[in-house]
Amino acid sequence: MERVVVSIGGSILDYEDISFLRDLGRTLRDAGRKVKLFIVAGGGKVSRSYIAAGRELGASERYLDLMGIRATRINAMLLSAAIGEEANPFPPASYSHVIQEAKERRIVVMGGTRPGRTTDGVAARLAQKVDADRLVNASNVDGVYTKDPRRFQDARRVASMTHDDLIALSSGTAGKAGPTVIFDTVGARIIKKAGIALLVLDGRDLSSLRGAILGKRFKGTKVS
Ligand code: UTP
Repeated sequence: MERVVVSIGGSILDYEDISFLRDLGRTLRDAGRKVKLFIVAGGGKVSRSYIAAGRELGASERYLDLMGIRATRINAMLLSAAIGEEANPFPPASYSHVIQEAKERRIVVMGGTRPGRTTDGVAARLAQKVDADRLVNASNVDGVYTKDPRRFQDARRVASMTHDDLIALSSGTAGKAGPTVIFDTVGARIIKKAGIALLVLDGRDLSSLRGAILGKRFKGTKVS
């Protein structure tokens, strides 16, 4: 069975949108019967609001990251609730625990691991550890653009690019708790070294998400 890591951006994990979460859960559950699925949940608005509040209160970057990690884990639990029995209920905190869970569940869902990284980095490391056939990055942007499409009208979506192109695009973005870029430079370097393809798409487009997970057609960018 193929192994696929899916990074679900916090931007599409809205705890108020039950109908989408239900559909997302069903899509992942169905896909998990055809490939071995490893899912990493992002922090999204939960992490952003807690990190912003903690920063106002003078918390250190490390402490903010720890809050962010807990936000990713609460989102992982929400995803597990949406997927159901086939997913583990409690997010593992290490890759060795992920491997253990994978023996008992069809689908393993986790959040962040340690301070100083993002869930992109976690998803890339996980893909390397489980020797994934591909890594799917599902956020709220339908691919990699030459610039931020939400800010620049002349931004262009690219259908395919190399790992080096992605690294060039993402470099200079590593840093403080809570930034949002399409895929961070740490993660980009890991998948380049491991030779793993990255498929970037809008996770709200569930048919595209399903296609990318199963190695079929999808709308987005392929990095290889
Ligand atoms: P995310 O990577 O989810 O950030 O982690 P995000 O900006 O919400 O990205 P998307 O939209 O989900 O893709 C949220 C925060 O949690 C901390 C960092 O502070 C990060 O900004 N974190 C997360 C860690 O410190 N370590 C981790 O392994 C994961």
